[in-house]
Amino acid sequence: MRIDVVSIFPSFFDVLEVSLLGRARGRGLLDVRVHDLREWTYDRHRTVDDTPYGGGAGMVMKPEPWGEALDAITADAAPLPVIIFPSPAGEVFTQATARELAQREHLVFGCGRYEGIDERVFTHAAQLGEVRLISLGDYVLNGGEVAAMAMIEAVGRLIPGVVGNPESLVEESHEEGLLEYPSYTKPAAWRGLEVPPVLLSGNHGAIASWRLEQQLERTRARRPDLLGSDHDGAS
Ligand code: ADE
Repeated sequence: MRIDVVSIFPSFFDVLEVSLLGRARGRGLLDVRVHDLREWTYDRHRTVDDTPYGGGAGMVMKPEPWGEALDAITADAAPLPVIIFPSPAGEVFTQATARELAQREHLVFGCGRYEGIDERVFTHAAQLGEVRLISLGDYVLNGGEVAAMAMIEAVGRLIPGVVGNPESLVEESHEEGLLEYPSYTKPAAWRGLEVPPVLLSGNHGAIASWRLEQQLERTRARRPDLLGSDHDGAS
């Protein structure tokens, strides 16, 4: 998968060189290219923002650098890219979104700052790829960078070969629509706290039922919104 990121803070993405995704890049599974939006400015101050038409607080990102950046990045893009603008005004990112994006060959993240990006950029981008405005959740960040990072990590780890043991992807929170069951490792007793005996029983059927029960209980307590009507009332 190819991922292009456009930002005025490209060094934010240095962290993609470490850990699982860093290794995936080294192994050629992920081709991440980070671009400084200011490469597409031509004035002495490398200006990327201006005051909003109609007045109001804050600054708006100018369309020209964005237009040129997206034109350049998508010029050699063979399959239609998905052009993602992280935005608190977008659809909410979920594991289903991550799964969907992991199927694509080319993602472009446009990270806005200030009060937003001139709306015409989205109209233009729609001629270059499939445009998605995506929010990380109902809160406001200072810009799209942290949101883009979170999405890149969630999508990247679903690419075959990135996570060593693909089975570990299946039994996670959100993959089955439920929160993950609690995990324990050795020692069996620690500071007076015991591992649930069923996990030491060797009875795989009993362990599986206990884990499912725990998943349902946790989901009901912490995230009842995740439970469809088929789970309601189950004990
Ligand atoms: N930019 C600012 N806040 C954001 C959010 N909640 N999600 C995605 N991008 C953002």
